[in-house]
Amino acid sequence: MKQSYSIIALPGDGIGPEVLAQGLRILRTAGELFQIDFRIEEIECGGHYYAEHEIEWPAGSFEKCEAADAIILGAVGHEVDGKTVFTKAGKPYPEAQLAGFAQVIANRQKLDLYANVRPIKLYPGVKHKIHGELKEVWEAGKVDYVVIRENTEDAYTGETNEIADGRITPIRITRRATERVVRYAFNLARRRDKQLKVACVDLKLDYAYVDAFCQWQIRNPEWYDVVVAPNLAGDIISDNGATTAGGLGLAVGGNIGDEHAMFEPIHGSAPKHAGKDKANPLAAILSVRMMMDWLGTRDEDERLIRAAEKVESAVEELLSEGKTLTYDLIGEEKASRCSEVGKAVEDKLRAMV
Ligand code: IPM
Ligand code: MN
Repeated sequence: MKQSYSIIALPGDGIGPEVLAQGLRILRTAGELFQIDFRIEEIECGGHYYAEHEIEWPAGSFEKCEAADAIILGAVGHEVDGKTVFTKAGKPYPEAQLAGFAQVIANRQKLDLYANVRPIKLYPGVKHKIHGELKEVWEAGKVDYVVIRENTEDAYTGETNEIADGRITPIRITRRATERVVRYAFNLARRRDKQLKVACVDLKLDYAYVDAFCQWQIRNPEWYDVVVAPNLAGDIISDNGATTAGGLGLAVGGNIGDEHAMFEPIHGSAPKHAGKDKANPLAAILSVRMMMDWLGTRDEDERLIRAAEKVESAVEELLSEGKTLTYDLIGEEKASRCSEVGKAVEDKLRAMV
């Protein structure tokens, strides 16, 4: 059993720091309750850091990510006067990129985090915001699958070239990257008990074009258990699927490779909500849950696996009670603050252990 776990926390931009603060609150609480020594180092980074320093984080930060047991990310994407900050050509990338590229895209590529694992799971009691109203549309138990998004190539290589009347951005799809992510998806499908109940022998394989899939996943999410897709399509279908599971405020992604892993809420930095203590911290908290589960499985450390289970139960209980939740899940009038929701999860966790 490892003596301690080193975690790099990258708060980033917008609502990233406030939701990650609640995620880290839960990580620290879990550490205390299950006697796990987490060594957490936070590194300021992202678009706002670039706007000030012309680099996306202090020198040596990537090496710290590389050396850590796991990375937890808030969100990147910063606006100045309503405009998203991009890096300047040549500083440091040949072409302009979203400032925050180093934390999200470059980390995924340089640490070879080839599988982006995004569960689409609807917890009981969660309402859907449709036509501006909160109502239960999809049924819990009928939305429970995992999107595996290829995470190192496709339209995300960073390469983009100017042409006479626009730009060309290549879509790179290699056999090597495709095979390993598909293999990851198959292994996951074999481990999922839902599938084992359905077909004891082996897996049932189906293919769909992404446009058709987008409507099937809304109409019949119960058809799916594991879905594997190229990077860009996977980005879109994971957000689309999140709608059926209560929205982006609950959507989580684990960027997973053979050596490293980085966990993140997938909602983005939402600059207009930043600094208001309003955003939903549950995706960040569930990212912490996923990180503990991954670490516990990797190192065969029961404490982490149990901690992950308890955090999920605490969140589940909070959701089914339907009282202490942020505006996206309960409406503006009844809404609790981001920090209140974090505190409520902490209290439930303490009461459970
Ligand atoms: C995500 C985000 C990123 C992506 C952006 C910020 C580049 O949408 O993690 O899903 O497209 O990968
Ligand atoms: Mn996305």
